[in-house]
Amino acid sequence: MYYIGVDLGTSAVKLLLMEGNGRIANIVSREYQLFFPHPGWSEQKPEDWWTAVMEGLKELTKDADKSQIGGISFGGQMHGLVTLDKDDKVIRPAILWNDGRTQKQTDYLNNVIGKDKLSDYTANIAFAGFTAPKILWMKEEEPENFAKIAKIMLPKDYIAYMLSGVHCTDYSDASGMLLLDVAHKCWSKEMIRICGITEDMLPQLFESYDSVGTIKPELAEELDFPKTVKIVAGAGDNAAAAVGTGTVGDGKCNISLGTSGTIFISSKKFGVDENNGLHSFDHSDGYFHLMGCMLSAASCNKWWMDEIIGTKDYAAEQAKISVLGENHVYFLPYLMGERSPHNNPNARGTFIGMTMDTSRADMTQAVLEGVAFAIRDSFEIAKSLGIKIERTKICGGGAKSPLWKKIIANVLGIKVDVISSEEGPGYGGAMLAAVACGEYASVEEAAEKLVEVVDTIEPDKALVEKYNQRYAQFAKIYPTVKELFNEIQ
Ligand code: XUL
Repeated sequence: MYYIGVDLGTSAVKLLLMEGNGRIANIVSREYQLFFPHPGWSEQKPEDWWTAVMEGLKELTKDADKSQIGGISFGGQMHGLVTLDKDDKVIRPAILWNDGRTQKQTDYLNNVIGKDKLSDYTANIAFAGFTAPKILWMKEEEPENFAKIAKIMLPKDYIAYMLSGVHCTDYSDASGMLLLDVAHKCWSKEMIRICGITEDMLPQLFESYDSVGTIKPELAEELDFPKTVKIVAGAGDNAAAAVGTGTVGDGKCNISLGTSGTIFISSKKFGVDENNGLHSFDHSDGYFHLMGCMLSAASCNKWWMDEIIGTKDYAAEQAKISVLGENHVYFLPYLMGERSPHNNPNARGTFIGMTMDTSRADMTQAVLEGVAFAIRDSFEIAKSLGIKIERTKICGGGAKSPLWKKIIANVLGIKVDVISSEEGPGYGGAMLAAVACGEYASVEEAAEKLVEVVDTIEPDKALVEKYNQRYAQFAKIYPTVKELFNEIQ
């Protein structure tokens, strides 16, 4: 049998065709536009996602025996607000996870409703990118659009809906809406009231490995797929990536270096960081996880390479970096503001420490190191909660760089396990589809059988020590310039 994983990302959708034994038969991707209508805003058109998915499905399966396709599932960019009217038409462009327009609504939720109550209701506090503050923003700023809302959904759920006709979501992705009672796996009545919506506007909740229905007959015909193809709920991209890297069950860690950067810690027990520095979400294996999310990770390197230096040859630029741990330049990677741990949409990217002999390679290195230091910010919170992390998996576009993986291993002082494919969310999505179709008894079984570690990067003691000192310096920069970020808005 074949299983399809759809990784609905921010710059493109990547579709992956997996055989039942885990072999990747094909991968294709389709880009779509990202709109920044105002500084700090970030939007996409759900219709563009849909066109890209349909084109991608056709290309992905063109040489495959389509009669063998069993199921389709997803890893989707999280938190995006998709609104549909009573005829299931998209009301306005989706407001994405890295959009910073909701400072006022986020402050209202955290300071007027109060962090304690939010944490009680949902296990989390408000961050600008989460869905609930965006609903409040729409209510205040676009009342005519708000009045049209019949359904609220997340990005991948729009695709699942278009494929199956079912308004569905899964617990892992729903966790990032600030509308789900994560501990009890149900919508929070209090949050629904606070946002001024009704429960029937929210999609039906499923486990990530549950089938929500079958593909619509007309689409099966258009794609030449069997009418029995299951549409499987899927997961937020980080939870799907965790499945794809075998980060399931208890105490495992995955780092994703995609447009965003995340550190993801799986757990069989529900737990909340009492300062809510890390998100406490449901996992797509049926259990839970903690996660820190930085808004710009591999996207910082892409910005630096494509827009500033003007090259596509990332490897050649990185080859000029010879010595690690001694760079005098620091970079704050807050190009879209920052989520974990600063929760500040006004934060901005910053280089500091340059001298007349600073080279282009020093600056490139500072970008890679700045992202690693920012991930360490969340790693430190996990350590302060008593969580012991000795090793991590890694995935996402940035994980293709051997140098970046080495920097991560030494900045965090842990082993980095490299797996045979970095296709986190797409592979995880395909694995969830395989579980739903009965190919594997559970997500844990699929991970055990399919995910293979092919290399391990060991931290070097002397380098870890150098990076500890540099991290201590890095950690002082944000508090020093924080007020300035607010002023220069
Ligand atoms: C996670 C988050 C990002 C997006 C990226 O909380 O906001 O990782 O899911 O697609």
